[in-house]
Amino acid sequence: MVTIYTVCLGNICRSPIAEAVLRQQLDGAGLGDQVEVQSAGTAGYHVGEDADRRTNRVLADHGYELNHSAQKFSAQMLRNADLVLVMDSSNYDDVKRLASLTESTTALSNEDKIKMFRSFEPDSSDSIAGDLEVPDPWYGNMSDFEHVLAICESSTPGVVDYVRTTLLS
Ligand code: 4NP
Repeated sequence: MVTIYTVCLGNICRSPIAEAVLRQQLDGAGLGDQVEVQSAGTAGYHVGEDADRRTNRVLADHGYELNHSAQKFSAQMLRNADLVLVMDSSNYDDVKRLASLTESTTALSNEDKIKMFRSFEPDSSDSIAGDLEVPDPWYGNMSDFEHVLAICESSTPGVVDYVRTTLLS
């Protein structure tokens, strides 16, 4: 079983959206039963809470399912993961800080399994310009959540390819 975490700050906006999109695309590729997808936040502010209501709304509007209880990302999760997809560079730094605290139990080193989610996006003008951040929509409105979903939908096929060609081969 391959284990993937999507990670943001609060685990109620971006990483749950990324989780729902990734799970649906893995199912669509016939890989759903070989991959476990979870999401977590680098901060514990919302542990145990449902996703933000705007997250639930944008997902429902686009036909995605999500059953959520927010959790804080831990060294234990990093240790057992095959791939950790972070939403922005501050998440990257926070997760990287955990890497030296624990020994990886999977094929890749802790450092090598941490990747910017948006580095899998094929040809967005942002990613060409080197901006790999998924912008935090927490202080925004529904159009910011729609933008996050669109980024997730364009980045996820590259993740599915990586899972198929690298993690499952
Ligand atoms: P997320 O968004 O990291 O995409 O889940 C946020 C959610 C909550 C907070 C910040 C960002 N907060 O400060 O509570």
